[in-house]
Amino acid sequence: MIKSFGKKTKIAVFISGRGSNLKNLINHSKKKNSKFQIDLIISNKKNAKGLIFAKKNNINFKIFSFIKLLEEEVKILDILKKKKIKIICLAGFMKILSKNFIKKFNGKILNIHPSLLPKYKGLNTHDRVLNNNDKYSGCTVHLVTGKLDSGKIILQKKVKVFNHDTSKTLEKRILKHEYLIYPKALNLIIS
Ligand code: GAR
Repeated sequence: MIKSFGKKTKIAVFISGRGSNLKNLINHSKKKNSKFQIDLIISNKKNAKGLIFAKKNNINFKIFSFIKLLEEEVKILDILKKKKIKIICLAGFMKILSKNFIKKFNGKILNIHPSLLPKYKGLNTHDRVLNNNDKYSGCTVHLVTGKLDSGKIILQKKVKVFNHDTSKTLEKRILKHEYLIYPKALNLIIS
């Protein structure tokens, strides 16, 4: 539980690409009953499409390549401290944070993953679900630990897979549920 002391909790969102979850979190953060506000966006790609939502909404954003990982993480931790960021949300962020960084923000980094974890950790989840003829897939919001896609599950949503599904149609259906559970999970962990 993260204590909010009656104010909206400051969060940072890390992205790598399209940023549709970021856009959705921004929209939710503006609602009266939202317990969080987005004060910082970090992207590992300077041309990530999602940065448009930072610009449109006047949210501070920074680019870090995460190539010199440890050095850059020190700088990021400093910015997070200065901005009083209490929670980090990974939203389509395709880099792996160091164990040290995760430890420093222990229990306060969330990730959204497009599968019913612990099934299908890692990449290409929809293709793997279809290849295995699974009847259900889904999405999961979980705490980030040093082990990939393995931390405590905060919320999960099961989604039906149809015979005619392609990876694109399945992705689209699951994304709609990602947009529902990510803000809900955030509001759940903030007291
Ligand atoms: C989302 O489906 C998210 O669950 C997935 O990337 C997509 C990002 O879309 N994340 C992962 O696969 C993390 N392993 P978005 O940039 O439009 O939010």
